[in-house]
Amino acid sequence: MMTDTQQQLSKTTILLHWLVALLMIALLAVGIYMTENKDYSLYGLHKSFGVVVLVLALARVAWRIKNGWPLAAGNYKAWEHKLSHIVHWILIIGTLIMPISGVIMSSMGGHNVPLFGFDLIPANHDPANPQAVLARNAELGEVAEAVHAIVGYLLILCIVLHVAGALKHHIIDKDGTLMRMKGKRIDFNS
Ligand code: HEM
Ligand code: HEM
Repeated sequence: MMTDTQQQLSKTTILLHWLVALLMIALLAVGIYMTENKDYSLYGLHKSFGVVVLVLALARVAWRIKNGWPLAAGNYKAWEHKLSHIVHWILIIGTLIMPISGVIMSSMGGHNVPLFGFDLIPANHDPANPQAVLARNAELGEVAEAVHAIVGYLLILCIVLHVAGALKHHIIDKDGTLMRMKGKRIDFNS
C-alpha cells in the first residue's frame, strides 16, 4: 500500500480524511439540531452513521500509528507546527471519543444502538411498561452524555481553527497543503 510522502499523500489518507470529515460535520449539525428540537425521528440515523464513523476512525488511527503524520508542505515556524499538530491530535481523538461516548450514553441509558435497522445493542424495555426503557447504569449514561456534548462543542471550535488554517495555507501562503489533501502531487521547495 502506498504511504504518504511530502509531495503526495496516499489514497488511504485522503479517502479517510474526507469521509470522516464529511460525516463528522454532518453528525455535529444533526446532533445539535435533533437535541434542540427533540426530533427523535433522527436519532436512529445519527447513531447508525456514528457507528460507521467509529469503524472508519479506528482504521484511521491504525493508519496514523503505522504511517506517522504527513510532513508539512511548507517551511513553518515551530509554533505553527505545534498548533497544527495539537489540533490534528484533538480532531483524530475526537473522532473516537464522540462515537464511544454516544454508544455508552445510549446503551447505559437503556436505549438501543442500531446500525441501519439492525440492533447492535437492543433497548432495555421495562417488563412492567414495555413503552419505557430501564437504564442499565444511569450515572455512567449521564457522564457519557456530558462528554458527548462538551467534546462535540470543543470539536466544532477545533474544526473552525483547522479549516481557517487550511484556507490560510491556500490563500495567504499559497502553498500546496490543501491541494495535497485533495490528492494533487505538489512540488516542495525547501
Ligand atoms: C472542510 C473541512 C476541512 C478541510 C478543508 C480540511 C483540510 C485539511 C488539510 C489541507 C489537511 C492537511 C494538513 C497537513 O498537510 O498538515 C488536513 C489534515 C487533517 N484533518 Fe482536515 N480538513 C477539514 C475537515 C476536517 C475534519 C472535520 C476533521 C476531523 C474531525 C479533520 C481532521 C484532520 C486530521 C486529523 C488531519 C491530519 C492528517 C490526517 O490524519 O489525515 N479535518 N485537513
Ligand atoms: C461519531 C460522531 C458523532 C458526533 C460528531 C455526534 C455529535 C453529537 C452532538 C453534537 C450532539 C448534541 C449534543 C448536545 O447538544 O447535547 C449529539 C447528540 C446525541 N448523540 Fe451523537 N454524535 C456522534 C455519534 C453518536 C453515536 C455513535 C451515538 C449512539 C450510538 C450518538 C447518540 C446521541 C444521542 C442519543 C444524542 C442526544 C443526546 C440528548 O438527547 O441529550 N451519537 N451527538
